[in-house]
Amino acid sequence: MLAVTDLKKSFVSPDGERVDIVSVPSFALAPGEQVALRGESGSGKTTFLHMIAGILAADSGRVALDCAEMTSLSEARRDRLRAEKLGYIFQTFNLLQGYTVLENVVLGMSFGPRGADKAHAKEVLERMGLGHRLDHFPRQLSTGQQQRVAVARALANRPKLVLADEPTGNLDRKHAGEALKLIREVCHEEGAALLLVSHDELVLGQFEARKDFAEINQAMKGAPR
Ligand SMILES: Nc1ncnc2c1ncn2[C@@H]1O[C@H](COP(=O)(O)OP(=O)(O)OP(=O)(O)O)[C@@H](O)[C@H]1O
Ligand SMILES: [Mg+2]
Repeated sequence: MLAVTDLKKSFVSPDGERVDIVSVPSFALAPGEQVALRGESGSGKTTFLHMIAGILAADSGRVALDCAEMTSLSEARRDRLRAEKLGYIFQTFNLLQGYTVLENVVLGMSFGPRGADKAHAKEVLERMGLGHRLDHFPRQLSTGQQQRVAVARALANRPKLVLADEPTGNLDRKHAGEALKLIREVCHEEGAALLLVSHDELVLGQFEARKDFAEINQAMKGAPR
């Protein structure tokens, strides 16, 4: 489903020094596999997920998604592949502020494999406990509610791979548990693979397959960030 090879990214810090942030020789996920990566703040988790999704260009290396080599595609084809195969739960939500909760989810589906299916969007939002907030705009929601919209948007598209970046970071225990359960259930129902990154031990503890990001990211064997 996902194969990452020799993926590297460095950034230039304000003092002009180049710092290696991600260096992953090899990482793979099978269809339907669910894996959680544990990594401390600043360890490069978001950078890694952004490169997998093709939102951020890697310095070098390859990402293959469902046999398609993301890293060698044109931007337009990469955008299409992302819309068709990927559900991304952003750490910072990235909701469209000018659209309602329901519109955010429906718009997210419109480029996906099954198109804009309002009834399905509503169903997923209801499962996230947001049935009473469909016509609200993001600014009219609490932070945790916005995070739940972001989860619903990623799942409604029936992706083949879900990338979840600290998807319950703004939720209380009850809602975090429910959101995580829904993420895992939907992935299971759809046969989607799940890659979740977190530093929350309660979230990580739910996964049988857990890995330390430091184990796969060789760039972390250096100075603290
Ligand atoms: N555009 C950028 N320019 C310079 N440095 C960057 C840039 N983006 C990220 N970094 C650096 O890369 C490192 C990793 O950032 P990243 O957001 O991937 O961490 P993270 O593991 O997701 O952290 P958190 O758990 O806090 O979300 C940080 O030290 C950060 O300062
Ligand atoms: Mg992050």
